[in-house]
Amino acid sequence: MSFPSGFVWGAATSSYQIEGAAATDGRGPSIFEPWSTHPGNVYLNHTGAKAADHYHHVEEDVGLMGQIGLKAYRLSVSWSRVLPDGLLHGGRGVNAAGLGWYDRLIDELLKAKITPWVTLFHWDLPQALQERGGWMNRDIAGWMADYAAVVVDRLGDRVKHWITINEPQVFIKFGYGDAMLAPGLKLSLDQQVHAAHQCLRAHGAACQAIRAHANAPPSVGWAPIGRTDYPVSETPENIEAARAGVCGVLTPDLWNNTWFADPVCKGSYPEDGLRLFGAANAPKIEPGDMELIRQPIDFYGVNIYDGRAVKMGSGGKPEVVAFEDGHAQTAFRWFITPPALRWGPRLLYERYGVPIVVTENGLSNVDWVMDDGKVHDPQRVDYTKRYLRELKKAIADGTDVRGYFHWSLMDNFEWAAGYRERFGLIHVDYPSGKRTVKESAKWYRTVIESNGGNLG
Ligand code: FCB
Repeated sequence: MSFPSGFVWGAATSSYQIEGAAATDGRGPSIFEPWSTHPGNVYLNHTGAKAADHYHHVEEDVGLMGQIGLKAYRLSVSWSRVLPDGLLHGGRGVNAAGLGWYDRLIDELLKAKITPWVTLFHWDLPQALQERGGWMNRDIAGWMADYAAVVVDRLGDRVKHWITINEPQVFIKFGYGDAMLAPGLKLSLDQQVHAAHQCLRAHGAACQAIRAHANAPPSVGWAPIGRTDYPVSETPENIEAARAGVCGVLTPDLWNNTWFADPVCKGSYPEDGLRLFGAANAPKIEPGDMELIRQPIDFYGVNIYDGRAVKMGSGGKPEVVAFEDGHAQTAFRWFITPPALRWGPRLLYERYGVPIVVTENGLSNVDWVMDDGKVHDPQRVDYTKRYLRELKKAIADGTDVRGYFHWSLMDNFEWAAGYRERFGLIHVDYPSGKRTVKESAKWYRTVIESNGGNLG
């Protein structure tokens, strides 16, 4: 069995992780500049200043995408490359050179018959906006709408697929709560809830701006993490345990799906979260906020790497089942859990009824260019095959899944882990910038050509 016709096969990246050229052509600093240059924040004090230097390899990189046979490419725009201090009004305004670079990238992609899927915000907030409070400032919804309008005015004649924000759970919780990511803040839960609320408003404002500025009806979605619990065995009780985890707020923090997705898809915060967080941590909702947040979305992006096996416990409460000793892991030491790619999409689709696109899935592996000049990465083939087979099951279960983007197109700056983790289908030798298409990418090409028919 192959995937539905028209299924979108792609690969994904994000601006700060691959572009480099951090101070080139008028780009302003993002929050990752001060953060990654602060000793100790990133593995071996790596920074994204050069990264994969994609900024200077556009033609070559799009050529390699063509070799892999990609139908689509998910990229993100660097806000501070387009608006160096983040602002359209009252600041430096549009940086023509930065916006022009994306313009050329889109043209290259279209020449190669690769459909661009553009994320507006993948964590690299302009530093100047952070200095105005960043996600704590209610004005950010307006800043984001202005930024979206600028990008869509320029690219919207050719780009049809838009993603507003990537993984709000991560950049709020880890960036504003746990100091594991830029800007490295340790705010309390009520402040994180406040930041998350502004972030959801910004998502809604961006949806409106995209639709208002696109010259043909666009397809608009978002890409939260798809935090996944899956049934350890497929009994009805265990499936309900998984649903309770995927569709519940079970711990007093932002590490869940529904605190973000219920407002976006249903227009209200989930009752269980409100109860658990308590009045002291409740979001301050102003008139019109929930209407703004609840904009129609055309697809629900899920970023899924792993999940937890759960069963229904004796007291009717879900319980996590520990992995057996030696359970398979990636180089990052993330557990390999293929059923996450069946149950995450399925349970989120059952709750929200919005078509699913897997906007990220993949693994870091211990890859190097071997003696024969090739990068042999059978682990990546095996991982991806097993996960995609599970995604097929989700589709067979009745889940409307429209596409799959492998993370990542190329090796890149993996945030706090720097260049230690290699997630790419393309190997990057950072000192020289040399690219080597990994063996897994050649295999992925056959998956795309057979529309997943060769996965078994
Ligand atoms: C996701 C991020 C992406 C990348 C992968 C490995 O959380 O969206 O930028 O770092 O993890």
